[in-house]
Amino acid sequence: MNAPLSLTTPAVSVDIAGVNLSYGSNHVLKDVNLAIEPGEFFAFLGPSGCGKTTLLRLIAGFNQADTGHVRIGGRDITDLPPWKRDVGMVFQSYALWPHMTVRRNVAFGLEERGVKRAEVERRVETALGLVGLGHLADRRPSQLSGGQQQRVAVARTVAIEPKVLLLDEPLSNLDAKMRVQVRRELRDLQQRLGLTTIFVTHDQEEANTICDRIAVMNDGIVQQVGTPMELYERPANLFVAGFLGTANILKGRVVGSDGARAFEVEGGVTVPIAETTELPENPTLVFRPQHATFAAAGGVAGEDALGLPCTITHREFLGASIRYGVRIGSTEVAVDMPFQSGSELRESGSQATLKLSPRSLRWLPA
Ligand SMILES: Nc1ncnc2c1ncn2[C@@H]1O[C@H](COP(=O)(O)OP(=O)(O)OP(=O)(O)O)[C@@H](O)[C@H]1O
Ligand SMILES: [Mg+2]
Repeated sequence: MNAPLSLTTPAVSVDIAGVNLSYGSNHVLKDVNLAIEPGEFFAFLGPSGCGKTTLLRLIAGFNQADTGHVRIGGRDITDLPPWKRDVGMVFQSYALWPHMTVRRNVAFGLEERGVKRAEVERRVETALGLVGLGHLADRRPSQLSGGQQQRVAVARTVAIEPKVLLLDEPLSNLDAKMRVQVRRELRDLQQRLGLTTIFVTHDQEEANTICDRIAVMNDGIVQQVGTPMELYERPANLFVAGFLGTANILKGRVVGSDGARAFEVEGGVTVPIAETTELPENPTLVFRPQHATFAAAGGVAGEDALGLPCTITHREFLGASIRYGVRIGSTEVAVDMPFQSGSELRESGSQATLKLSPRSLRWLPA
């Protein structure tokens, strides 16, 4: 008999090693290597077309790689068909059977697998209980809200007791408020089950709020893997910096030599570079909108701050903050200032000095 749905099912790792995959001449996955820990809630995050679904389907066994291996719990499953992989996938469209009740939708996959009737009933009840839908078991999908349908799709997958749960953009059919609610429920369910889960999304907020770690993908290449905070604070490249949050990017060139280096921003402003700063080849200067302030009249003092002359180009009121458009040299950047009633406002066209801490600057390869 299968082990019951419980917190005690040991979680498994998922390892992807040296994976390449092409559709004809379209090289979609390029040397993908990922080590997902047992019990982790892991996200594939990236723009449309970057290969997230392709990679998820590869783990599920619906796609074959040209090179590389997939291991689950250390076991090489590269050549196993989908139904022998202990992997459950929730598709973006949910793919519920419209003519079947909720109960039948959840039971169907179990019956297909030859699970005995009493066991099917037990698992259906448990799975629907887990997602809080026991009371709606006799409805059809068309009689449910989008969020409820999404939960049926999850229940149906969880009922087969997979070792790995794959979710492909499971919240994209829901309205904004529902998305926030359901993503919390998903996180809660994942924690209770302790199930290794991979969540595909192109929405950084979704990935940031519910996932332990994120692999940021672009153009079939894993750009960086880390916790949401690591990716935000220490992006490895300009793509990651710009994809997670807003990044101000200043292009320019390094002038001077060892003791007295500076970065000459395009358009003429010069930023001193601390002696200890390690620069990549061909560096670009990156900072977040909330890491800059405006210097008080009298300028910037102290070793811990540098001042850059700038021009205010526009102002947007966002409620809790004001976003200023600011030109440094020939580049326009964003600066967020907290808003309180009585806050001093700066006018478009006025000159100012932008104050930055060298610690909040990132030097990334161009
Ligand atoms: N069955 C297929 N045959 C040929 N090309 C495909 C196939 N499936 C996907 N592609 C191509 O592979 C690339 C990656 O597609 P994929 O569906 O993995 O992207 P994605 O990151 O999931 O995007 P989205 O966020 O839009 O769902 C795209 O260029 C897509 O056109
Ligand atoms: Mg996709």
